[in-house]
Amino acid sequence: MNSISKQTKKVNQKDLENRVKDMYKKVALHPEVEYHFEMGRKLAERLGYPSSTLDKIPKEAIDSFAGVGYYFDFAQLQNGEVVLDLGSGSGMDVFYAALKVGKTGEVIGIDMTKEQLEKSSILSKEAKFNQAVFHESYIEELPIMSDSIDAVISNGVINLSSEKTKVFQEAARVLKIGGRLAISDIVTGVKLPESISCDATLWAACIGGAMQIDAYKQLIEDAGLKIVEVKDNPYAFISNNAQGATKEFGIKSVSILAIKK
Ligand SMILES: C[S@@+](CC[C@H](N)C(=O)[O-])C[C@H]1O[C@@H](n2cnc3c(N)ncnc32)[C@H](O)[C@@H]1O
Repeated sequence: MNSISKQTKKVNQKDLENRVKDMYKKVALHPEVEYHFEMGRKLAERLGYPSSTLDKIPKEAIDSFAGVGYYFDFAQLQNGEVVLDLGSGSGMDVFYAALKVGKTGEVIGIDMTKEQLEKSSILSKEAKFNQAVFHESYIEELPIMSDSIDAVISNGVINLSSEKTKVFQEAARVLKIGGRLAISDIVTGVKLPESISCDATLWAACIGGAMQIDAYKQLIEDAGLKIVEVKDNPYAFISNNAQGATKEFGIKSVSILAIKK
């Protein structure tokens, strides 16, 4: 039994889903509240998002940005491309990608939390991002045709899934040959003890579900993608508890670029 199937057995999936939805419903509706993780424009700028591009994105989407890294330097999005964002939240990365692919491109955001989808869809209409669409779905079962996407992007989401194998298999399925997976996510230096990985609250907080980096990279390669670049991101959790776990287990944020062979 590999570490992922062990993880899947130990956390109650429905409970986890409800906690994750509850957490990100609050993030969509109340970005002004202090969470154990940083959010918003200051975070985005520190991670590497150029302020000149952020200036063209609806402020409310940036306020609820809860990503963990910057990967658009890896993604190298081109005019006219089709992009899929796994766990699009309030939409900041979808809008960012939409500016890169232009009016002839398309960016599809997928999320399971209604309040996030409602917020991103309203902002998209108001700001006339006609090339951006949002769908309610799970990232483990994408409502997307095989071999149809130029770039799959994702920010701070895959750690939340208890079925990471499926997520990467689905990403690989929908990508065109030569297409890119460009993501930022939370990983660990060592395998987390069960006291942390079985705690649904810590899981919903982007800590409990974090996977050891080598095992995480192996899942990507096993799905048929070739990893070409990995970098660490300047990301830190805010709460003392989270900071303690970060030190003890080498929890960190990385960006990864992989290509479909
Ligand atoms: C940490 S937030 C990141 C949102 C966005 N990527 C950003 O950078 O602001 C995680 C998002 O992933 C969504 N999510 C988590 N697990 C998911 C799943 N299995 N399927 C679809 N969406 C999921 C949550 O609803 C939430 O909006």
